[in-house]
Amino acid sequence: MKKDLLTIDELEVGDIDQILDLTAKVKSDRSKYSDSLKGRSIGLIFQKPSNRTRVSFEIGMVQLGGHAIYLGPHEIEMGVRESVKDVAAVLARYLDCIIARTYKHEDVVDLAKYATVPVINGLSNRAHPCQALSDIFTIKEKLGALKGITIAYVGDGNNVLNSLMCAAAKVGMKIKVATPKGYEPMKDVVRIAKECGKYSGSSLEFSNDPEKAARDAEVIYTDVWVSMGHEKESAQREKAFKKFQINDKLMKLAEPNCLVMHCLPAHRSQEITDSVIDSKNSVVYDQAENRMHTEKAILLKLLK
Ligand code: CP
Ligand code: NVA
Repeated sequence: MKKDLLTIDELEVGDIDQILDLTAKVKSDRSKYSDSLKGRSIGLIFQKPSNRTRVSFEIGMVQLGGHAIYLGPHEIEMGVRESVKDVAAVLARYLDCIIARTYKHEDVVDLAKYATVPVINGLSNRAHPCQALSDIFTIKEKLGALKGITIAYVGDGNNVLNSLMCAAAKVGMKIKVATPKGYEPMKDVVRIAKECGKYSGSSLEFSNDPEKAARDAEVIYTDVWVSMGHEKESAQREKAFKKFQINDKLMKLAEPNCLVMHCLPAHRSQEITDSVIDSKNSVVYDQAENRMHTEKAILLKLLK
């Protein structure tokens, strides 16, 4: 595995297999790893709010015997008070690993370039790799397999989708994406996702039709219509996404036991109804829990 985890496409399929296997181990035997990163420290440089990513990394690191420090938007002011290069070079003298949540993806790339320690992308405008790894772990845990499983994504062509489709493609899933016109995923990410699925037997289908995507899906996934940083577009987006809601009607088209997934935070009554997110098919809280187990595995892989 490379020094950093910035995007899914940088991972070998073997790295993904190892992370999933190790995640299962750390999840089933917490005490076995309780001293694994003793004396080691991670720092979380976050330019945006977070519940899951912050808490799962901090507590995950504590459970591995290490220490975590949170550096919120007003502490470091990366790129304002100090350059990304200087932040990276200095923090690498104190920390064993940096987790970064940024607006610009280039900032995560630059941190990795100038830090001598591993850098993990905790969400940028382009990618959310830790989320995608936790998601495929959750699907495997629930369905017992990944290869050949059909996953539908209904909603915004955003950072979560970018990483999810690359991860799903690498492990041989069938991916059906439905976004409103004008909110399709970035062209270069689509090209990369197709590349990721070249040898895995995966397939990728894109449309502007949520019903087409949901039909016969074994997993259905959505995310907020307005990602962090796009708040000014809220009114326009709410209009464009109206038909892209996961509701009971859409669920009728999917397989009866179809898993319902959402990275959270959810905007109930927008991209998903209460009746669906609170249904027996929903695994959103397992997904959230698995963030911590997956991230413990990632930290072990990068720091051991
Ligand atoms: N899913 C996720 O990354 O949640 P947070 O924004 O709360 O970290
Ligand atoms: N797409 C969302 C994900 C939040 C975890 C955002 O970037 O705000």
